[in-house]
Amino acid sequence: MASYHLLSDIDFSGKRVLMRVDHNVDVDEDGKLKSDEKIRATLPTIELLLKQKAKLILMTHVGRPKGKVDPRYSTAGVAAHLRTLLPNTGVKHITSTVGPEAEKAAIELEGGHILYLENVRFSPDEEGEPEQQKVLGQKLAALAEVFVNEAFASCHEYEEASTCAVARLLPAYAGINLQKEIMMLSPVLHDPPRPLTLIISGAKMETKIPVIEHFLGKGDFILLGGAIANTFLAAKTGSIGRSKFEADRMDEAKKIMERSGKNGAAVLAIPTDCVVASQASETAQKSTVSADSVPKDMSIFDVGSATIDHYISVIEQSRMIVWNGPMGLYEMENFAEGTKRIAEAVAAATKNGAVTIVGGGDTIDFHARHNLPLSAYTFVSTGGGAMLEFISGKPMPALEVLR
Ligand code: 3PG
Repeated sequence: MASYHLLSDIDFSGKRVLMRVDHNVDVDEDGKLKSDEKIRATLPTIELLLKQKAKLILMTHVGRPKGKVDPRYSTAGVAAHLRTLLPNTGVKHITSTVGPEAEKAAIELEGGHILYLENVRFSPDEEGEPEQQKVLGQKLAALAEVFVNEAFASCHEYEEASTCAVARLLPAYAGINLQKEIMMLSPVLHDPPRPLTLIISGAKMETKIPVIEHFLGKGDFILLGGAIANTFLAAKTGSIGRSKFEADRMDEAKKIMERSGKNGAAVLAIPTDCVVASQASETAQKSTVSADSVPKDMSIFDVGSATIDHYISVIEQSRMIVWNGPMGLYEMENFAEGTKRIAEAVAAATKNGAVTIVGGGDTIDFHARHNLPLSAYTFVSTGGGAMLEFISGKPMPALEVLR
C-alpha cells in the first residue's frame, strides 16, 4: 500500500476535491434503491473529507447510458439518498457533469458541503477514444484542485476519463475503501493461504474466462455454477435441454476442462446433477436430474444436491475462498437452494478460520433478498467485474495512476 498516494498524505481543508465514487446502484420500479452498500462503502472517505472542511465534488456513473442523456440513469436519486445518510450536510445536485453550470457550482461550493455532478456516462467522451477522454479529463480537472478515487468497482482494465484522464491532471489519491479493497484482494494474487478455491458463476463466459484461466494456474479448486456452468456442461455432455448456454464458447470450455488437475493446474468442478423445470417460475414442478440427462424440454435453474455436497466438501477443506456469483436462479425461492447452501458453507468456513472474499452485484443481492448477513465473510468487495480483473492479476490503469 505504501506506493499508493493515501488520504493521510495531505490536508484537504478548504480544498476543492473531485471524488470519483461508484454509486452505480440498481433502482426498482418505484425509484427505490435496491441496496445502498456501495454508497455506504464511500462514507468513511466522504466523512473524513467533510470533517476537514473540503469542498467535495462527487461524480459517478449509473448504468450504461452509452454517452447519451437518459433520465433513467440520472444521479439525482443517489444524491437524494446520500442526503438521507448525511442529514447535516448540504448535498447539491446539478444536471451537468462539466461546463459552466458545474464550474459555477464548484466555485460557489463551501467547505464541508457536497456538490453532486450528473452521470459521467452521459458524456460520449467518458468511454470514448483516448483524445476524447483527455478532453473530458481536462474539463473535470478544471473543477477541482485534488482528485480522489473511491470507486474500486469502476477500476477496470480499460480506461475511462473519470478514473484515469482526470487522475493524470490533478494530484490523485486512493480513497479509504479503495485502499481496503487492494489490501484484502492482494493476498489472492500473492502467496494465498491454500487450498485456494474460486466459486464462480454468472451469465457471460467472456467476463469469467480470464479469471478461470488465471485460477487454473494459481489456485487449487474452481467450482462452477450458473449459466457459465451450462456452457461447460453442453461441451461435456452434448445436450442440456433448453438451458441457456454460449455455443460459440464450447471449444474454450473443452480446452479448460482438459487442463483441469493436470500439470499442477487447479481442479475444475462442474455440476454433476442439476435442478430442472420446464419454466422459470415459483410454481413450476422441479426435479433433480443427472447433468448428462437433462430432458429436452427442460432447463437447468440450479445445481443439484450431489453437486452441492461435493462443492461443500471442497469449501470445508479450503483456507481461502473467493466467491462471485449465485449458483442458480436465486431470484426465485424455487431455485435458490444451491446458492443458500453454498452461502452457509462459506460462512461456516469463515468461522473455522478460512479467509473468505465475496463479490459481485448478484451475490450481494442474493444476501439482501434472503436476509443473510454479509458480515459472515472476511471481506465483501464492492467490485464485480473489477474484483475479478484485480484477482486475475490484470494491470488496472485507474489504480496505477494513484501511485
Ligand atoms: C459494476 O456495477 O460492476 C460497476 O459499477 C461497474 O459498472 P460497469 O461494468 O458498467 O463499468
